[in-house]
Amino acid sequence: MREELNAIRDDMKAQLAAAGSLDELREIQVAYLGKKGKLTGVLRGMGKLSAEERPVIGQLANEIRDEMGELLEEVRNTLKQKELLSQLEEEQIDVTLPGRRVGRGHKHPLTLVEDRIKEIFSAMGYVVEEGPEVELDHYNFERLNIPKDHPAREMQDTFYVSEDVVLRTHTSPVQARVMDRISPHLPVKIIAPGKVFRRDDDATHSPMFHQVEGLLIDENITFADLKGTLLEFARQMFGEDRKIRLRPSYFPFTEPSAEVDVSCMFCNGAGCRLCGQSGWIEILGSGMVHPKVLEMAGYDPEKAVGFAFGMGIERIAMLKYGIDDMRLLFENDLRFIRQF
Ligand code: DAH
Repeated sequence: MREELNAIRDDMKAQLAAAGSLDELREIQVAYLGKKGKLTGVLRGMGKLSAEERPVIGQLANEIRDEMGELLEEVRNTLKQKELLSQLEEEQIDVTLPGRRVGRGHKHPLTLVEDRIKEIFSAMGYVVEEGPEVELDHYNFERLNIPKDHPAREMQDTFYVSEDVVLRTHTSPVQARVMDRISPHLPVKIIAPGKVFRRDDDATHSPMFHQVEGLLIDENITFADLKGTLLEFARQMFGEDRKIRLRPSYFPFTEPSAEVDVSCMFCNGAGCRLCGQSGWIEILGSGMVHPKVLEMAGYDPEKAVGFAFGMGIERIAMLKYGIDDMRLLFENDLRFIRQF
């Protein structure tokens, strides 16, 4: 039995030395030390031994089991190390591979149109100004000749922050703020793009939208200057062939006032569904700055004259790109946004 045990020890040693993988190692462990393993088998036969031999053989068997257990652990560690190394080698990183590209994105159609509007007017000498979106009633209404209880306030459904503070309903209050800063000097020549707010929400109205205000004050400015300026704008924005038409209108801060139409860019003025068969599409409001507005800003209306205009950027974008639902501009659906 002693020889049998020694033979098992030698065999197992030899096999462990030859083991090439952790899987093989597990098989060897089961074959020798497992429940039905060789060493276990021998120990089962110990019942047949004499009383003197039993403890001697038992001790030897235990020694062999411990020794083999330790050897097994050693080999296991070595193999683990080896497998890790080869894994690392396989997974080597090729630092010369090109990196993953970050998508570049581009401007929103509203920003594109706003930029274009700024470009057109900057080239004519207008300076870009800004005003606050949370505005005093004073600038949003009073200074534009719209006193409290004036029926014109009903044209604009206003978000009130408090009695004296509103979310501006148009960019026109920037006119008064800029004139306050510059008067009594001339000229004033600005455009003021930005967000405005009204309690409206449907396919052609959003509670937040964008406008661009324009204001030119100097000496000897006439209605013809207004018309020429807006015609130039319409041509640059919608194409050289565009014409404009002015219709009498009313705004409390201009006198006279005019609504400006551009000849339809879809049918070239022939009449189609988009222009309601009229051949014309309304794009903005305008007029000669009201003497009272000039006076409140510290100008002498006998000397200073000027014109103003205001347009919705969403509307211009929809006409320029043929967009039929304003909500598309705010939903940020990439399938839509990517088209510009
Ligand atoms: N503020 C007007 C609106 O929101 C638009 C407007 C009309 C602005 C005439 C002007 C103007 O500067 O002269 O409906």
